[in-house]
Amino acid sequence: MSEPLVVMKDVNKHYGDLHVLKDINLEIGKGEVVILIGPSGSGKSTLCRTINRLETFEAGSITIDGKELPQEGKALADLRADVGMVFQSFNLFAHKTILENVTLGPIKVRKTPKAQAEKRAMELLERVGVAHQAAKYPAQLSGGQQQRVAIARSLAMDPKVMLFDEPTSALDPEMINEVLDVMVTLAKEGMTMVVVTHEMGFARKAAQRVVFLADGQIVEQATPEEFFTNPKSDRAKDFLGKILTH
Ligand SMILES: Nc1ncnc2c1ncn2[C@@H]1O[C@H](COP(=O)(O)OP(=O)(O)OP(=O)(O)O)[C@@H](O)[C@H]1O
Ligand SMILES: [Mg+2]
Repeated sequence: MSEPLVVMKDVNKHYGDLHVLKDINLEIGKGEVVILIGPSGSGKSTLCRTINRLETFEAGSITIDGKELPQEGKALADLRADVGMVFQSFNLFAHKTILENVTLGPIKVRKTPKAQAEKRAMELLERVGVAHQAAKYPAQLSGGQQQRVAIARSLAMDPKVMLFDEPTSALDPEMINEVLDVMVTLAKEGMTMVVVTHEMGFARKAAQRVVFLADGQIVEQATPEEFFTNPKSDRAKDFLGKILTH
């Protein structure tokens, strides 16, 4: 593996009595694309959210590019800006135009001059295929287009790593591929990515590794080919049996 960018060591998290993350040890290399997969409630979203401290954790450590995640304050805001996150629900600002959605972070957080932020935003919107929609508002775009704007918005911050939590699961089938295509391109360009998804085609095309999570634990890890054709654990076999016959 290349030099690690994200390192999680013995990470444990509880919600009250519920032990949601159990001794998570996970390293993600620079430029690596890792798929997180597992049953509902296994802790995939929680794991993603601890990586940029949207969730706290009680024990263990997480470093990004060698730096421990600060608890709070400006240091946290700075480091969090290095971690892009794209959710199932696109979370665009409804009362801002597409262009404003993409320039807001760079202007407010990175202090990029407006003209420069807009130039870069237009390049990114071009790249995800929605530049002609720049003056519109989110509600005027399809789900697939909104999700591509959400990706462009994340990229505008020049993140070191991008987290995707089921980015296509709220989309109509015909829009899934347009979003996955953008993600495949990003992966090919060398972006470090952690992707929660059941999209096996994407996993095979773009990922180096699948991490299978069950009950808050990493149960097995393998290449996509190996995992989908020859899962080792009974939990993974059972899980794949369910999603394949779904
Ligand atoms: N804010 C919260 N408070 C209490 N429990 C929570 C909270 N968020 C999640 N949980 C619980 O933690 C566990 C892990 O949830 P998480 O959302 O990480 O699972 P997931 O693998 O992403 O599931 P899904 O595939 O359904 O998205 C679940 O049992 C869930 O009910
Ligand atoms: Mg989830």
